Amino acid sequence: MSRDFPRRALWSICFLGAFGASSLFAADNTAKGKELYAKECAACHQQNAEGQGIYPPLASLSKEQIVQKLKGYREGKGGDMKAVMEPYAKGKSDADLEALASYIVTLKK
Ligand code: HEC
Repeated sequence: MSRDFPRRALWSICFLGAFGASSLFAADNTAKGKELYAKECAACHQQNAEGQGIYPPLASLSKEQIVQKLKGYREGKGGDMKAVMEPYAKGKSDADLEALASYIVTLKK
């Protein structure tokens, strides 16, 4: 066994600690997004984010795209029907928008 084994072991523990904490954080964030989505978004975009009629599907977008679009709606930017989305993006923090996006991408098939 090499002389620096204890140091390496220590590094692995640090690494696992950091990784564990970050995945825990992501899980929390996704749970929050799920709650918000069910309450505020599913009525139009559907539970599975496949959309319906004039409501676009979200499941095919990347997390970055979703966050970017939501930030746009929050600032009054978007497509022809941006006025429909604006109230759902306004008043949400960046963390809320990211939580929503983290959840929506889990619906991708
Ligand atoms: C009252 C119906 C309605 C609700 C509720 C709603 N949306 Fe939307 N959403 C729309 C419409 C209509 C558009 C298209 C807007 C446009 O023209 O840019 C849209 C567009 C989007 C887009 C961009 C899709 C794309 O491909 O450009 C995202 C992302 C989105 N909505 C996320 C959400 C989230 C997250 C929520 C909940 C916080 C939500 N929406 C709630 C109707 C709704």
